[in-house]
Amino acid sequence: MADAVAALREGGLVAFPTETVYGLGADAANPDALRRLYAVKGRPATHPVIVHLGEPDHVDQWAVDVTEVAHRLARACWPGPLTLVLRRSRRVPDDVTGGRDTVGLRVPGHPMALRLLREFGGGLAAPSANRFGRVSPTTAADVRADLGGDVDLVLDGGACSVGVESTILDCTGLEPVILRPGGVTRERVEEIVGRTVPVSTDATGRAPGTLASHYAPRARVVVVGSDAVAERAAACIDDGNRVGVLAEKGPDDLPAGVTLLEPPRDADDYARVLYARLRAADDESLDVLLAVPPAEMGVGTAVADRLRRAAGSPP
Ligand code: TXA
Ligand code: MG
Repeated sequence: MADAVAALREGGLVAFPTETVYGLGADAANPDALRRLYAVKGRPATHPVIVHLGEPDHVDQWAVDVTEVAHRLARACWPGPLTLVLRRSRRVPDDVTGGRDTVGLRVPGHPMALRLLREFGGGLAAPSANRFGRVSPTTAADVRADLGGDVDLVLDGGACSVGVESTILDCTGLEPVILRPGGVTRERVEEIVGRTVPVSTDATGRAPGTLASHYAPRARVVVVGSDAVAERAAACIDDGNRVGVLAEKGPDDLPAGVTLLEPPRDADDYARVLYARLRAADDESLDVLLAVPPAEMGVGTAVADRLRRAAGSPP
């Protein structure tokens, strides 16, 4: 921990666990560190990163015009998998926001992340600790496999308990808008806000990172309904592909030769194991992964969203 804090103070890059996925952290107030972060991620400079804070109270150092409803959401969900997009304060460097007038802030709910943030004292810019467009890491080993020696230090806090990224909520307008479904469910957000909260379908506008073809393994991901899996699998095998299936209840009528990846038990478990299974598809050298999404409720919405993006098709 002490080495991690020292590395961050010197402008280094430290990967750390959060409850969602591992983040690649850099001092959010150090433009040189941020440039290195973008270079290692292979990320376009116009693409904003989330600033992680150790205390909810620090939000007022990074954002201005924070609405009452944003404060209420922060109180209810932090530490936890919710990112609030707010108007940025003057101390936020352009490198963090991709030149926008807003900043994404979150207090992560993982003891090791909180300890790091509290000992470091400042904000940590931290995208998921994977190369741009690839599968997000949920273990320290995933980070090492993807980023290798380009990261100065990796804090190992075990496997992430949520497994999909934070919910991103734009709180700069009159009403909050969900930019990315994630660990905090829409149902929960609506309960706190006290009304319906829309999900943005504008993939190019406010959240440029929510691109199609994100979270993608090398294997081609195809999203299918459970009743169509067997037929699709047979057709893909006929075309000479190595085919795998990811589904909650492993379909029992699969053609011979199909690799059935270990089925998630329920939607929460699906979120937790999703990225590990996408990596497993590559470890198994699959050409095609047929994925049956969970029902779109609770965290299942985020899982279905990530599967569509892994398949390269916008929502
Ligand atoms: O769970 C998470 O949010 C993880 C962990 C490490 O905290 N982080 C994460 O970061 O997923 P990243 O960089 O992979 O995705 C952040 C997303 C991007 O899609 C980015 O466009 C969006 O947040 N974002 C960040 N700041 C924004 C802003 N000011 N306005 C709109 N979108 C923003
Ligand atoms: Mg990411």
